[in-house]
Amino acid sequence: MSDETRTAGTARPARTAAVIPAAGRGVRLGAGVPKALRTLGGTPMLIHAVRAMARSRAVSVVVVVAPPDGADGVRNLLAEHALPEKTEILVVPGGETRQESVRLGLAALPGDVTDVLVHDAARPLVPVDTVEAVVDAVRAGAPAVVPALPVTDTVKEVEPRPAGQPEPVVATPERARLRAVQTPQGFDLETLLRAHEETAVDGEGATDDAGMVEALGVTVLLVPGHEEAFKVTRPLDLVLAEAVLARRRATDAY
Ligand code: C5P
Repeated sequence: MSDETRTAGTARPARTAAVIPAAGRGVRLGAGVPKALRTLGGTPMLIHAVRAMARSRAVSVVVVVAPPDGADGVRNLLAEHALPEKTEILVVPGGETRQESVRLGLAALPGDVTDVLVHDAARPLVPVDTVEAVVDAVRAGAPAVVPALPVTDTVKEVEPRPAGQPEPVVATPERARLRAVQTPQGFDLETLLRAHEETAVDGEGATDDAGMVEALGVTVLLVPGHEEAFKVTRPLDLVLAEAVLARRRATDAY
């Protein structure tokens, strides 16, 4: 659906879905279970991520993209945990790259979906207010919306060298103009489908759906992100995530 059809009032009623790519191996967290199945506060990260999407009143369907050979295991896992009844939950096998996994998730969406959130299972603690801010901006007509925060570190562009070797600096972008992007990223479904159709999988594939939409020449809008929407990537992130959950449990019967 283009902006024109939305503003012309001929659009179908909005139905928002979420696709959660969870097919990654999560090697940076160390050996063991796939990252999405690591537990936080005793609950697998993937379950936290599904609940974070389902908590939004707008999201009525969630597609979980499982490891290519792990769809049945993920279905069993979802069946073992309480999830909101209003939300339809589908599970599909993923691909070799995140880009491929998202494409397979989009292909499984029911036909009446108009807008889609793409949310990494690796960001299990995103607050519902952040999810809703993204949904609201998409429903207001933005074709692509991304939550983002200012960066606190100064960022250098380098001439990359093998890990551990000194790297020459090429440039220092002005920090005030930089943002670190999070998920869920929200899209008008037709725009994201077009981006996936037109972007060939190259090497590791695209790691950022909004970047693929930018490449179409479509403007991507940033809305304020949240520090608790951080990505659980390294072992220290697990410590931080456990602390956030413990604080939520102590303060608001989460
Ligand atoms: O590896 P990285 O942390 O960038 O992965 C981001 C998200 O993409 C994770 O939720 C991961 O499970 C997912 N992914 C996927 N299929 C792949 C690779 C990553 O769904 N082949």
